Amino acid sequence: MTPEREHSLPVVKRLFLTVFAGVGVYALASMVLTGTVSGLAAIGRSSAAPGTAAARLVVQGRNVFRYDTFGDEAVWGGVLGLHKAIEGSKLGGVGAGVSPKSALALGLKVDAAKIPPKVAAAIKAGKVNLDDPAVTVTLLKLNAVVGVRGFFDKRGRLGSVGITCAVCHSTVDNSFAPGIGRRLDGWPNQDLNVGAIVAAAPNLKPLEDALHVDEATVKKVLLGWGRGYFNAELNLDGKAVGPDGTPHSAATRIPSAFGKDGQNLHTWEGGWGSVTYWNAFVANLEMHGTGNFLDRRLDDKARFPIAAAARFGHTRPYVGEGVLPAPAQAQTADRVTEALRALDFYQHALPPPKPPKGSFNAAAAARGKAVFNGAGKCASCHMGSLGTAPGYNAVPPSAICIDSFAADRGPDGTYTIAPLQSLFTRSKRGFYHDGRFATLLDVVNHYDSCFKLGLSAQQKSDLVQYLKSR
Ligand code: HEC
Ligand code: HEC
Repeated sequence: MTPEREHSLPVVKRLFLTVFAGVGVYALASMVLTGTVSGLAAIGRSSAAPGTAAARLVVQGRNVFRYDTFGDEAVWGGVLGLHKAIEGSKLGGVGAGVSPKSALALGLKVDAAKIPPKVAAAIKAGKVNLDDPAVTVTLLKLNAVVGVRGFFDKRGRLGSVGITCAVCHSTVDNSFAPGIGRRLDGWPNQDLNVGAIVAAAPNLKPLEDALHVDEATVKKVLLGWGRGYFNAELNLDGKAVGPDGTPHSAATRIPSAFGKDGQNLHTWEGGWGSVTYWNAFVANLEMHGTGNFLDRRLDDKARFPIAAAARFGHTRPYVGEGVLPAPAQAQTADRVTEALRALDFYQHALPPPKPPKGSFNAAAAARGKAVFNGAGKCASCHMGSLGTAPGYNAVPPSAICIDSFAADRGPDGTYTIAPLQSLFTRSKRGFYHDGRFATLLDVVNHYDSCFKLGLSAQQKSDLVQYLKSR
């Protein structure tokens, strides 16, 4: 059995069958092989022998992470009409459509393993029109757009689109072309312009209603986030602008989703919970999958006015646009709950990638490690290989000398002590939750003044090399 076929959703099986009928044996074999090889690598890393329950969970979890929409196409396609924007008016949708070129420009990534060799050769030879939205639709049919799933009717027409975790938390290695390559699960997509993608939807009415603003304002907010950023609490508290009055400063960087094992709290704001908690939160409240979600903390009207009014903390499976009051009774089957165990397991099995050779100076990094653990006082919060503190790993804003805007949007007013693994995978959009520090040296200088460390220039640059080596 191939990993792909272990997917729980019948609709996916159907889609794969239709797609592969036309793709040919070689492509199928190569795809299965790629899937199996990376599956085994993941299994090896989680020290779970193939065939064991743990190994199966990794494969199932990977499929959920990459391909499961939890039924959210009811919202992204069904309510917002994003599939129509992708098709464009020529194919029966609206507007100019989204060509592969513009999809890549929005930061979407393409999984090269899903492109049949013939098509790949045609692309390389310049024989595929990358300005044609019909090609994007074909890529969706091949399930090749990372984190975006097309849903097709019997006649092969695009009927809806949904998103998966991978759209934000995966990228590709660009081995085929920029934006096209092998998947890198858990790496943040620092190029993704989430806001611009949502803003392209023909129907923004649900967002206008939720935020009590007009369409122009919704668009301004969405377009203000910028690449690699997303405002994950907007739908809870309605805070569209941050401390400096821009939508950008209210958004946070998309974090990585690997190397979370052994850590209690996740997300930039402290207090939300573990990966387990946040996965359920995101699948239900951000992606708008259809599932159950319980969190009585969201009943707090002062902190979470929108969520409290809409009763997000008591979500039952239903097919709505996600901002209406959640119904007290389930109206459809739960598509989230049964996926959570494998999803959780998979993320914990994803190891943080090692920085490439030559991306730091090893001798300076060794000296920097001593500064980190000694004069820099860094290890009093960022401990050992965890990179965060064992226990309740969050601190008040004053402990790191920054404002409380984002911390106050979480349940307990703190910031999670960010784990420092694999910073090279997420250094394109600055550091700290809102990217306020452009470089690692800026971060170090901030601590130097916050903690009155008095580090020398040499110590600072060694520390930077050490951070790059983690
Ligand atoms: C639209 C983009 C987007 C999608 C889709 C998305 N996430 Fe996230 N994710 C984010 C952002 C942004 C944050 C940071 C939120 C915060 O801290 O306020 C985050 C935080 C996380 C974290 C915490 C990481 C850390 O170290 O703080 C995990 C784990 C995670 N997401 C997993 C998932 C899973 C699993 C899914 C699918 C069920 C998913 N995400 C879907 C954008 C996304
Ligand atoms: C009091 C606890 C504490 C100490 C001490 C501390 N940090 Fe941090 N660190 C944090 C917190 C909390 C964050 C997350 C800030 C945010 O969410 O914006 C963070 C974030 C970071 C980041 C950014 C990570 C990212 O992905 O953006 C770096 C780099 C970092 N710290 C390095 C250091 C270094 C180097 C030192 C020592 C000079 C140090 N820290 C000392 C708590 C601490």
